[in-house]
Amino acid sequence: MPIPKLIRGHLVYNRDATRLISRRGGYIYTEDGIIKKVLSEAEGMQLAEKGVQLEDFGDKILLPGLVDLHVHAPQYSFRGIGMDLELLDWLTTYTFPEESRYGDPDYAEKAYTLFADGLRNGPTTRACVFATTHVPATLRLMELLEERGMGAYVGKVSMDRDCPDAIRETVGGGLAAVRDWLAARQGGCLVKPILTPRFIPTCSGELLDGLGRLQREYHLPVQSHLSENPAEVALVKRLCPEAETYGHAYEKHSLFGGANCPTVMAHCIYSEPKEVDLMAENGVFVAHCPQSNANLASGIAPVRAYLNRGIPVGLGTDVAGGHSLSMFRAVTDAIQVSKLRWRLVDQSLSPLSFPEALWLATAGGGAFFGNVGRLEEGYACDLLVLDDSDLPAPRTFTAEERLERLFYLGDDRNVFAKYVAGNRVK
Ligand code: GUN
Ligand code: FE
Repeated sequence: MPIPKLIRGHLVYNRDATRLISRRGGYIYTEDGIIKKVLSEAEGMQLAEKGVQLEDFGDKILLPGLVDLHVHAPQYSFRGIGMDLELLDWLTTYTFPEESRYGDPDYAEKAYTLFADGLRNGPTTRACVFATTHVPATLRLMELLEERGMGAYVGKVSMDRDCPDAIRETVGGGLAAVRDWLAARQGGCLVKPILTPRFIPTCSGELLDGLGRLQREYHLPVQSHLSENPAEVALVKRLCPEAETYGHAYEKHSLFGGANCPTVMAHCIYSEPKEVDLMAENGVFVAHCPQSNANLASGIAPVRAYLNRGIPVGLGTDVAGGHSLSMFRAVTDAIQVSKLRWRLVDQSLSPLSFPEALWLATAGGGAFFGNVGRLEEGYACDLLVLDDSDLPAPRTFTAEERLERLFYLGDDRNVFAKYVAGNRVK
């Protein structure tokens, strides 16, 4: 028998993609991990009086959990260092050597425990996570996230060229490793596997062909990187001269969206019109990672243009391209870079507002996980309870202002409680 529960707080959430709504003393009525109803004070009190279990957070702010649509777990260990290079040199100088360490189970245990604790402590409730090529370490990462109650897609990375021996697979070995990984996985329902070809420069056509076959066999979603950096885009053009665009180089192997292949691509800063057409046609999700794009001097993605085209967009931290695992930063950074882009690059694309960026971080990325990211009946009960009592001010603010201020000024310490699928995880 599912046990119903009431969670009470000062609700502030998106009415739609551009507007917020607030409800003091609002109640979330949840059963079996799903939101059954959002209730007014009077309705909630009635149920509480009938004896339904109540968790009351008073005037603390209650909102949907945040979705990190793109993050690299093994890179958490070196976040905040090595910000002096662009993507391709950054990968060979810092990232690949670090990821090579995850063949050592002791190192992986230490590093992934720190990552999983970091994710649990912050405002993220669901994440799309890259691991490394190593199967045992990836399985352990999935367990660590599961133990902490986090919702996640986790990908064993696939790559077979242009990287150090310690993380380079053969085509046959790499495909067998994916099968081994899927077979060995202990089936949790909140942490699930996702196919993860790293990006075109490190994946041969043969490997991608095999991954496309595995995608159809196992019906797995796909995550990768797309059009992040000018030198990377030029390299893909040299590697795949036959592909019309970078996106077509994935599409050729049936790894680029469509009804049976949910796909999320990080960055999409330099997507040319034909690539954008294909993304729109195939419903490919964009994981916009503003902090990473600033740190690696990659550029600024035209998020407004994607939204105008109806392309699904969420936000990601892209640690360690991004230095912070906090989705608070992803939201405020997305707003800030959109303003710079509007001012300096293209005044026809208006900047993102706070409600819009919040929508991307909740409903936007949440849609990749199904019914996730909204305070609505039938959606997963993923909630944040935020405490702004350590952010004193000489006057009072509206609930909407309190929320915006928490995103700009807050950090993990302001995350008072957190629920994933109805379970309290912090
Ligand atoms: N492209 C391929 N691999 C990576 C990575 O680890 N980080 C980022 N930002 N881009 C990539
Ligand atoms: Fe990335």
